[in-house]
Amino acid sequence: MEFRIQPGGSLRGEVRVPGDKSISHRSIMLGSLAAGITRVSGFLEGDDALATVATFRAMGVEIEGPQNGEVIIQGVGMHGLQAPGQILDLGNSGTSMRLLSGLLAGQDFSTELTGDASLRGRPMGRVIEPLRMMGANITAAENDTPPLRISGGAGLQGIHYNLPMASAQVKSCLLLAGLYAVGVTSVTEPAPTRDHTERMLRGFDYAVTRDEKGVISLRGGGELRATDIEVPADISSAAFFLVAASIATGSELLLSHVGMNPTRTGIINLLRLMGADIELQDEREVGGEPVADIRVRGADLHGIEIPQQEIPLAIDEFPALFIAAACAQGRTVLRGAEELRVKESDRIAAMAEGLNTLGVGTEVLADGIIIEGFGSAGCFGGGVVNSHHDHRIAMSFAIAALRADSEIRVVDADNVVTSFPGFEVLARDLGLQISVAG
Ligand code: S3P
Repeated sequence: MEFRIQPGGSLRGEVRVPGDKSISHRSIMLGSLAAGITRVSGFLEGDDALATVATFRAMGVEIEGPQNGEVIIQGVGMHGLQAPGQILDLGNSGTSMRLLSGLLAGQDFSTELTGDASLRGRPMGRVIEPLRMMGANITAAENDTPPLRISGGAGLQGIHYNLPMASAQVKSCLLLAGLYAVGVTSVTEPAPTRDHTERMLRGFDYAVTRDEKGVISLRGGGELRATDIEVPADISSAAFFLVAASIATGSELLLSHVGMNPTRTGIINLLRLMGADIELQDEREVGGEPVADIRVRGADLHGIEIPQQEIPLAIDEFPALFIAAACAQGRTVLRGAEELRVKESDRIAAMAEGLNTLGVGTEVLADGIIIEGFGSAGCFGGGVVNSHHDHRIAMSFAIAALRADSEIRVVDADNVVTSFPGFEVLARDLGLQISVAG
């Protein structure tokens, strides 16, 4: 499937983008392990979150939906999962694989986890190593890539682990394994990362602490109590429209009910540093997560040096941010972001390739990129860009067309359904001249 986007235009209107992917995954995992019925609303009906649903169904959990974002989970309790009797295929979803590896290491049955070609190339050593330290029996293919084979009944022991990289997936993996471990499992992170697992565990009445030194701990052997979860709109999906409205003169959008967890709002901080016109309205808390409506208008952006502390807080938004950087006056410099090389694609290489195709100057660094912005007088050239199977690369180059002088085609865009089903319909309603072919 490919996107064809005619150049120019602006975006106007009001929209609620689909539910948060990270929170949707976690709602299924914790809801399945809880005692009682968990009702979820606002659930993301994208392929990644659906892969997590299918996995828990395969382990005997009754899950109704999702239908219009509503899911009802009949929790089986901490020890109620059953051996799946099949290899668990997690598609494109790194979050499913990394979080599940921790949770499954604590079961008394064995499992095998695999995924699509992209997921089968992603590093799993980062979860295998600490899980083995906890006593897990887990093997992988060459270079610690999937498939993962996890032998049951290992008997886990709580450990303290200093995360070598800022990764919410690794942190969450260890906390989920820690639920099944003897004693306390604790982690420290080199920089704060998204804390949805900690917040949701507390929502399920499970004690998780974070001390003044940033050590996050829980004690194994407790129970989860079912609760209702309202999933906010995904700020990572809203990000495409925050950038799109910012770069297209005359745009004005209201993005409603967006998750504003401070560990996720780096994109807003960075766009504001670049001069974006973004206003938060009706800031509130819903089910333990901060939420707001966001008004964004077109603005003249300027290039920035990206502050290091913002990187984990905007980790999924860099493809979109690079489009903003190309439209900005002057250069934008990103360093210290080597994690971008091991996402659904090598996002530094994939974005540099696409930006170059569209006539934007870049310098690729081992751990980042320098982008030469063309400023308010300039624009992208048209062309054919390959998304490298990566949903966020595809959507980023789709919105770039708002500031192009001729058609942009984005090939290999099928994976947009992993995180943002209906992207093209929504974008078209707001004013992007996008069509789908193939
Ligand atoms: C996620 C954590 C991040 C992010 C991913 C979702 C999560 O990954 O990129 O899209 O839900 O925990 P890392 O932990 O690899 O940074």
